[in-house]
Amino acid sequence: MALFGAKSFVGLDIGSHEIKVVELGPAGGRFRVLHMGSADTPPGAVKEGAVVEPQALGVAIRQAVGKAGIKPGRVVSAVGGQAVIVRELKLPPMPEDELKQAARFEAERYIPYGVREVNMDFDIIGETTEENQRRIVVLLVAARRDVVDKHVQALEAGGLAPYVLDVESFAVIRALDAQAQATAAPQAPGGTAGAASVFVDLGAETSDIVITEGDQLRLTRNINIGGDGLTKAIATRLDMEFQSAAQVKEEKGVVVLEGEPAPDDRTVMALHEAMLPILGDLATEVRRSMDYFQTRWRESRVGRVVLSGGTARLTNLDRFLSLELGVETVIGDPFLQCEVGERVLPAAQRKQVGPAMATAVGLALRGTVER
Ligand SMILES: Nc1ncnc2c1ncn2[C@@H]1O[C@H](COP(=O)(O)OP(=O)(O)OP(=O)(O)O)[C@@H](O)[C@H]1O
Ligand SMILES: [Mg+2]
Repeated sequence: MALFGAKSFVGLDIGSHEIKVVELGPAGGRFRVLHMGSADTPPGAVKEGAVVEPQALGVAIRQAVGKAGIKPGRVVSAVGGQAVIVRELKLPPMPEDELKQAARFEAERYIPYGVREVNMDFDIIGETTEENQRRIVVLLVAARRDVVDKHVQALEAGGLAPYVLDVESFAVIRALDAQAQATAAPQAPGGTAGAASVFVDLGAETSDIVITEGDQLRLTRNINIGGDGLTKAIATRLDMEFQSAAQVKEEKGVVVLEGEPAPDDRTVMALHEAMLPILGDLATEVRRSMDYFQTRWRESRVGRVVLSGGTARLTNLDRFLSLELGVETVIGDPFLQCEVGERVLPAAQRKQVGPAMATAVGLALRGTVER
């Protein structure tokens, strides 16, 4: 059964648009995609990254898992969106049990609601010096208790048991880091710092921006920009229903780049014009994150931006961001480190399907770590 014999690992990503599930098995030091599938999320069942209707979701989860041909069992899933707070805390050296206490105390400063209402997790991730003082760096992950409970209820309603509840943005890093590192630009001459990577997971309701450097997490943010916003802008501009607008966006949406000839098709141009202000906002948010990172780690340099999520499929979005940010931007392929059979996913569809599957693949990979 999935996860039990540590023969295979199932990752399940509950998105506001779509539920995605991937089962990975070992393949001689690498991984093989054994099964994968997806199902539409019932409208309104997930809001701002949090499950609000577990029962309705359960039905859709069963559908996704069944269609994929995965046996019900334990899965790795994740919470995300604005419901999760990820922060680095810096504390003076002290014994580990005291450290947890101190971290909990310190964490209250970052949590906008009562501490009793949240699930908290701490991880010691390293050491640093600040004003000549040794400091232990602790990663705080906090999620509202009701959000975690509802997520677990949805999994259970779907006939699954949660094995690990991770954080969506961490899963994206796990799935795409090898690609970011392998292709990162060479180090700056004379510099000691390696090239940092920016991961932008573009979902339907929200998007995650994460910056890492080597194995260090430097920044994580969730922004209220996503594919639904693009669809709404198109719906208004072309006076269409949301569903039809989403369909034209996915079929014909292109970001027309400055200096390139405008397309003859007037719909394509109208789509571009409707989407451009939002894409401009997206570029601004990513740039802001990069600027913030740059002011804190002056020696560092961003080598690459890696896009994932369904909205990363928008034609030319990678080139648009690359021009706006002045940094090479690529579309993430979570299957790069996996063997994928033709029956599971035909090679011709890999690039299409890959970006939206990044989180689910990263979650399945977490299973391999937890074994
Ligand atoms: N070819 C395409 N061009 C543009 N957008 C696309 C394309 N294919 C899918 N999308 C958009 O991708 C979005 C869905 O992406 P994804 O599955 O990553 O979201 P999600 O994980 O369900 O949402 P969230 O992470 O916000 O909860 C939708 O807005 C959809 O319209
Ligand atoms: Mg998502």
